[in-house]
Amino acid sequence: MPLAYFNRQYLPLEQATVSIATHALNYGTGCFEGIRAYHNQEQDQLYIFKLREHYERFSQSCRIMRIDPGHSIEEMMARTVELLQQQDFHEDVYIRPLAFKADPVIKVTLDGIRDAFGVFAVPLGNYLPTSGIHVCVSAWRRLEDNAIPSRAKVTGSYVNTALAATDAHLAGFDDAIFLTEAGHVAEGSAANLFMVRDGVLVTPEISENILEGITRQTVVDVAEDLGIGAISRTIDRSELYIADELFLVGTGVQISPITRIDHRAVGDGKVGDITLKIQTRYNQAVRGLIKEYHPWLTLVD
Ligand SMILES: Cc1ncc(COP(=O)(O)O)c(C=O)c1O
Repeated sequence: MPLAYFNRQYLPLEQATVSIATHALNYGTGCFEGIRAYHNQEQDQLYIFKLREHYERFSQSCRIMRIDPGHSIEEMMARTVELLQQQDFHEDVYIRPLAFKADPVIKVTLDGIRDAFGVFAVPLGNYLPTSGIHVCVSAWRRLEDNAIPSRAKVTGSYVNTALAATDAHLAGFDDAIFLTEAGHVAEGSAANLFMVRDGVLVTPEISENILEGITRQTVVDVAEDLGIGAISRTIDRSELYIADELFLVGTGVQISPITRIDHRAVGDGKVGDITLKIQTRYNQAVRGLIKEYHPWLTLVD
């Protein structure tokens, strides 16, 4: 039976419910995370990937939104591990922590409202194909930092994602790339973007209205270990059309190669060498197959 940790207790997921009058449901005033736990079949072990980093970012999101989850980072990590232990998963899992303005208040403010924290976990395989996708540049623009900060993972912000992703899907694409209001490349609908030009990885800077992705940092670290250079700088839209390789990265999408963009082949239209090397090493790292990356993992035993 799926379980949740909510209001300081473990209970069946279907009982972890809120009122229709809840502030966050009405105004989008919540923060969340998306974390993966990978099942290593040979060892029959479950590893949570970068658990601390996710709760550190969660705390930052909550700070921006004046939400107090009422638990320290260590407590949230411990409750998450216990949640998985109780469910005894033997497959890949997606973990969703959520902190939100919980009172039934008809007032658009962030102050003087009780906050709640919960976390649940569900089995999840691949979110996007990992063998080559076709994306478009969205007509929707990425949220600006001075409107709704993208570096905070705010529930209401995902309206921006939903608009772009839905239009992309209905037009036959797998995902959308957002530009900023200034016209620079920002990120995918729910993933960061990397481009390869002349053997070097290039990704938009953190001031380009992106979520400061945990996989983005992982990719930079893995690339360094493989002897591949990585820089962050402003990227123009037209660079996407002449890039040697392109790929999306994120907890959900993992490493997702882009082989077509706006009806143009990326490079020779096949998954590129650098993308493949990074994807392979990432997939091994998250399942505990590379010892030097074990500090990134939390074993659920
Ligand atoms: C808008 C957005 N950008 C980037 C990412 C990737 O972040 P991370 O690698 O921390 O999962 C996500 C979520 O997965 C996201 O929702």
